[in-house]
Amino acid sequence: MSQTIVIEAAGPVWIRTATVADLEALAVYFQELSPPAQYNRFMGAVSNFSRIAFDCLKNAGSAEFFTLLAESREARSDRIVGEASYGFDRAQGCGEFAISVAEQWRQRGLGSALLDALQSRAVSLGNFELFGETLRSNQEMKCMARSAGFAFSRSLDWRAIRFDKRLVVAAE
Ligand SMILES: CC(C)(COP(=O)(O)OP(=O)(O)OC[C@H]1O[C@@H](n2cnc3c(N)ncnc32)[C@H](O)[C@@H]1OP(=O)(O)O)[C@@H](O)C(=O)NCCC(=O)NCCS
Repeated sequence: MSQTIVIEAAGPVWIRTATVADLEALAVYFQELSPPAQYNRFMGAVSNFSRIAFDCLKNAGSAEFFTLLAESREARSDRIVGEASYGFDRAQGCGEFAISVAEQWRQRGLGSALLDALQSRAVSLGNFELFGETLRSNQEMKCMARSAGFAFSRSLDWRAIRFDKRLVVAAE
């Protein structure tokens, strides 16, 4: 899966499915997020980014877990500028996601493009229930979830809020 989008006033960015070959670049991407963004993305302080990247990619290729990467071409190499990770919880019958975009690429629609791609992929897998959780203090994520049609509810984690959406098949 690869989809190219154009973010205003920037070069082309494409979204593709991550593979285990992306392990090192994804760890570097997570490490280079600002500490507040890392805290928001992982809902707590983290330091072992290789381990986190490994956890994102260890089930790559299975039908129930995937990570999408947004990349841009910088100098002569491609650079990860955003990611969205998805896992299906059989017990709940629900897919869960988490997402991040590199600071310099924020508020240009890239988070929404990643979330759209993730939703389409979940639907193509036959999974229609999607949810996420974020810290109550995370205004950016709450704005994005609200804008994307998620409904908010309490989380079991007192620091967090949950957002759910029933996905629909896009009209032809
Ligand atoms: C949340 C995040 C992914 C949004 O990415 P983004 O690329 O800036 O999002 P977009 O530009 O696509 O904006 C999506 C919507 O959120 C809104 N939004 C984004 N940042 C916002 C901000 N700082 N304040 C208010 N609204 C904001 C946009 O206005 C847009 O709303 P619209 O669709 O009604 O126009 C990004 O802020 C991020 O990576 N944060 C750090 C990691 C994190 O918190 N992850 C969430 C853990 S689940």
